Amino acid sequence: MKTHTLANGDRIPAFGLGTWKSSKGQVAVAVQEALKIGYRHIDCAAIYNNEAEIGQALSTFNGKRSDLWLTSKLWNDSHSAEAVRPALEKTLLDLRQDYLDLYLIHWPIHFKKGVVFPRNLGEMLPPEAIPVGETWQALEECVRAGLTRHIGVSNFTIPKVQQVLAQAAIAPAMNQIELHPYLQQEDMLAFSRQKGVLLTAYAPLGSGDRPKGMKKADEPVLLNNTVIAEVAKKHQASPGQVLIAWALARDTVVIPKSVNPKRLQENFDAQQLQLDQDDMARIARLERGWRFVDGDSFCTGDSPYTLQWLWQQ
Ligand SMILES: NC(=O)c1ccc[n+]([C@@H]2O[C@H](COP(=O)([O-])OP(=O)(O)OC[C@H]3O[C@@H](n4cnc5c(N)ncnc54)[C@H](OP(=O)(O)O)[C@@H]3O)[C@@H](O)[C@H]2O)c1
Repeated sequence: MKTHTLANGDRIPAFGLGTWKSSKGQVAVAVQEALKIGYRHIDCAAIYNNEAEIGQALSTFNGKRSDLWLTSKLWNDSHSAEAVRPALEKTLLDLRQDYLDLYLIHWPIHFKKGVVFPRNLGEMLPPEAIPVGETWQALEECVRAGLTRHIGVSNFTIPKVQQVLAQAAIAPAMNQIELHPYLQQEDMLAFSRQKGVLLTAYAPLGSGDRPKGMKKADEPVLLNNTVIAEVAKKHQASPGQVLIAWALARDTVVIPKSVNPKRLQENFDAQQLQLDQDDMARIARLERGWRFVDGDSFCTGDSPYTLQWLWQQ
């Protein structure tokens, strides 16, 4: 299994399992099945509302804890200095773990404490309400306390990562962002490589199971792309496997979600697929700046956040 080595020598498996939208009824079986297949990296988040079920599945794992890589994410209502550690401790309790490998700021967006999804403006806080340095210092304390081995960010732009880097005693190990052939983010790839920040590709298959309300009417279906289909045919692979192999070939971490045993195996097997230069060149031409997860629900009406602020600043 391909890994990336972090500054302290820890190694993150480049391939892992996504768990957003994996329902409470399905996720424990899916994680157990994944562990049986050989998955050793599970991507979680408090907001996915399924960490207790994942914890139950993890408790059946017979291998060593150090052979697993567990990531989770701090939700938008817990960015203040006093809220960070309790949020991480709740995740640890649910996952039945003593520590995480990686804990990420899920979004650069603040809600008031206890707000899961804001129903009105009064439940949001503007960007300046909690400086990122405050959240970051609290996360660094969690590293020092042994609650997580690494910390990082998610959905951060280059300027926002730069802001963290400028004041970090412990540098962000990871930025987890949307990456696939329709949103290749070459500038972010180059910047992150230069700064030693790894990237995790989320929604690598186009996140087709998002709720209807999160989908655009004209949204493309990445898995149906004809170039991806042709490359798949050439290698006797599936389109999903080509998308995973493409992410691995770009030296990103990739975390496709599945709760289906056949697709869990299929996705795992994609680690063996080697795309050639011609495949990579053809896929490079598919770029169209398309975000499946654009965060527009955070930016509607009189929200203090705009899509321009979220993705351009
Ligand atoms: N940090 C963030 O803000 C953020 C945002 C989005 C996602 N994520 C993380 O990234 C993970 C992956 O992203 P995602 O869940 O949005 O979308 P995704 O992995 O791109 O796509 C998941 C969808 O693809 C299907 N699928 C899985 N394997 C397949 C295959 N080989 N062929 C065809 N279809 C396949 C799944 O169905 P079945 O389950 O039925 O197989 C599901 O409908 C998430 O689960 C989450 O852990 C993070």
